[in-house]
Amino acid sequence: MRPHYGPPLEAPMTTANTKLYAQRRATLAQRIGPAGIAIIPTAPEHQRNRDSDFAFRHDSYFYYLSGFSEPKAWLVITGDGRCTLFCQAKDREREIWDGLRLGPEAAPQAIGVTEAFSSAELDTRLPALLDGREAVWYPFATHKGLETRIDGWLGSLRARVRYGTLAPEQQRDLCSVLDEMRLFKDAHEQDVMRRAARISAGAHVRAMQRCAGMIRTGQEVREYHLDAELLHEFRLHGSQYPAYGSIVAAGGNACVLHYRADAGRVPSGELVLIDAGCELDGYASDITRTFPANGVFTGPQRTLYELVLASQDAAIAATQAGARFTDPHDATVKVLAQGMLDVGLLDKNKVGGVEDVIETRAYFQFYMHRTGHWIGMDVHDCGAYTEPSEIGQISTRKDALTGDLIKDRPARILRAGMALTIEPGIYVRPAAGVPEQFHNIGIRIEDDAIVTDTGCELITRDVPVRVAEIEALMRA
Ligand code: GLY
Ligand code: MN
Ligand code: MN
Repeated sequence: MRPHYGPPLEAPMTTANTKLYAQRRATLAQRIGPAGIAIIPTAPEHQRNRDSDFAFRHDSYFYYLSGFSEPKAWLVITGDGRCTLFCQAKDREREIWDGLRLGPEAAPQAIGVTEAFSSAELDTRLPALLDGREAVWYPFATHKGLETRIDGWLGSLRARVRYGTLAPEQQRDLCSVLDEMRLFKDAHEQDVMRRAARISAGAHVRAMQRCAGMIRTGQEVREYHLDAELLHEFRLHGSQYPAYGSIVAAGGNACVLHYRADAGRVPSGELVLIDAGCELDGYASDITRTFPANGVFTGPQRTLYELVLASQDAAIAATQAGARFTDPHDATVKVLAQGMLDVGLLDKNKVGGVEDVIETRAYFQFYMHRTGHWIGMDVHDCGAYTEPSEIGQISTRKDALTGDLIKDRPARILRAGMALTIEPGIYVRPAAGVPEQFHNIGIRIEDDAIVTDTGCELITRDVPVRVAEIEALMRA
């Protein structure tokens, strides 16, 4: 077996994977053109306190192009297709403390780069690599201190112009190229995302069943008990860590959109909202389920739950190649707005009919976020939300709630291979005129979808969403 380098990511690199990353680098080289050079650092390490660091997590762009997960590493890709890796030099003593390093000597053979050097040689080698290039590409506004570092290399090149050096005249944002590449998930990425989704779905099932089981046997349930179940299931199946801070919110806590799993009591008659997903081999999953702690929905809980579910069904039906990114959101809002009138959350004598509710955004009191986002290596993944081919078509409108002037550009057209979440919700904070039976109910239902030519593939449905299925699962 090959030794394993860096944090335990993907199974030791196979030839097939090496080719995959080489192909991505070749595509990038082609997009920056023969006179371009791209510089991509991995993520910095972060101190937590004194001599303890936060767990290292590679930079997504860097990993997308290399599959390499050690810290202190850089890629330099030139338009002619050469790729130079800078990585940690071998160091017997440090490797005893921190783990094996690949080292620059082994890197070309192991990960398919053209050449590799110690990261300690960055400052001496970068000016020569930049010499004679027209444009230097790097991710803008993503790595603190990167511009200063690049300025330094360009400065040392310019200081030698009398010796015939030629510094690049243009600095270009590499994110625009890489974001577009990452927006379309290839077969390998889709496979990893499906596996991550399956693990996360299992974790939700485990937390639901544990919750009902503890309540049935008279134990006090706290939010952290359920968080522990999620973590257990993630790690049990090889996930490296949660893709984001897990939300486990009992009762009214669910109305706090960014609530984190805390110590709140989970009372028997309340709903629990869990928004949690694991990261597996560099890819995120993102699932929300809302369920009754004791396994049986009350009338008002069920009424609102069915409404959110119907709005999600409408959003799913609107998710397919050729539709706009905003179509699922608009479909959600239509169903929710009508439902809010039907169940009395909104008073039609005050807010008018469904068209008025949408026009004035009166629904915003109970549904204040978008219905989805791209998902991939990052849970809120990169990729333009406006359609690149229509970028110049700007219309201006006045926002009904704030009065602000909003610039609208045509939303992105969905294409096969894009991945996004579909996550409508309803959050009812107590307020005058809001029926008391709905107070402190917070519901979100979130699934991850891969767009196909004819619709979308929901990859997170190994955990049920229908009321009867959730109740059956929690009885089991
Ligand atoms: N868990 C973050 C989100 O749903 O967007
Ligand atoms: Mn999400
Ligand atoms: Mn989520």
